[in-house]
Amino acid sequence: MKFFLDTAVIDEVAEMVDTGLVDGVTTNPSLIAKTGANMGDTIAAMCKLTEGPVSAEVTATDCQGMVAEGLHLRQIAENVCVKVPLTMEGLRATYQLSKAGHPVNVTLCFSANQALLAAKAGATFISPFIGRLDDIGANGMDLISDIRLMYDNYPALKTEILAASIRSVGHMREAALIGADVATLPAKVMMDMAKHPLTTSGLDGFLADWKATGQKIL
Ligand code: E4P
Repeated sequence: MKFFLDTAVIDEVAEMVDTGLVDGVTTNPSLIAKTGANMGDTIAAMCKLTEGPVSAEVTATDCQGMVAEGLHLRQIAENVCVKVPLTMEGLRATYQLSKAGHPVNVTLCFSANQALLAAKAGATFISPFIGRLDDIGANGMDLISDIRLMYDNYPALKTEILAASIRSVGHMREAALIGADVATLPAKVMMDMAKHPLTTSGLDGFLADWKATGQKIL
C-alpha cells in the first residue's frame, strides 16, 4: 500500500519524507488556502521533496479550462499529478489529459458508479472520500469495498484506489484490509499509526531494567 501525505504544508512533507514512509503528496484548494502560500511555489517545493506524485488540483469547472490548468500545473515538475473533480466536465478533462500521457487523480468521489466512470475515462487514481461520507452518517469504508470489488471484476481497469479524507488510524486499518492501493493521510494519522500503549509501557520497562544493569552499548 502506498502512503501519500495529505497536506499543503511544505515543512510537514520535509519532516516526514525521511521516514521512508511517504510515497507522494495530495493537496487541494482548501489545504492551500489554509497555508496562505502560493500554490505554484508550494507544489514546486513538494515535488523536489518527493519523487512520488504530487496532486495539484485544477480550479476551472469546464473541460477546456481544466485541461489548460492541468497542462500548466504539469509544467511545474515531472511528478505533478493533475487533480480534477468528479463532474462530467472533469471526466472529459481526465480523458483528454490521460490520453495525452498525463497522470490524473479524480477527486471528490462519493459513489462506486462515479469511480467506474473515472476508471473508464482513464484516471490514474480515484479518490473516494471516507471521512466526509462518515460525516453525513454513511459508511465511507463501504465505498472503498464496493470500488475494490467493482474494479477487481474488470482487470482491464488500471485505476488505483486512493482512499482519501482519512481521519483516523481505524480508517487506515480498514482501508488496508480492504485493499485500497493508496491512502492519503494527514501526518498526524501517520504518526498515530506507530503508537500503541503496550509499546510505550514495554519500552519504559526495558529501559528501566537496562539502566539498572549500568551497562552501555556504545
Ligand atoms: C484528498 O485528496 C483530499 O485532499 C482530502 O483527503 C480531503 O480530506 P478532508 O475530508 O479531511 O478535508
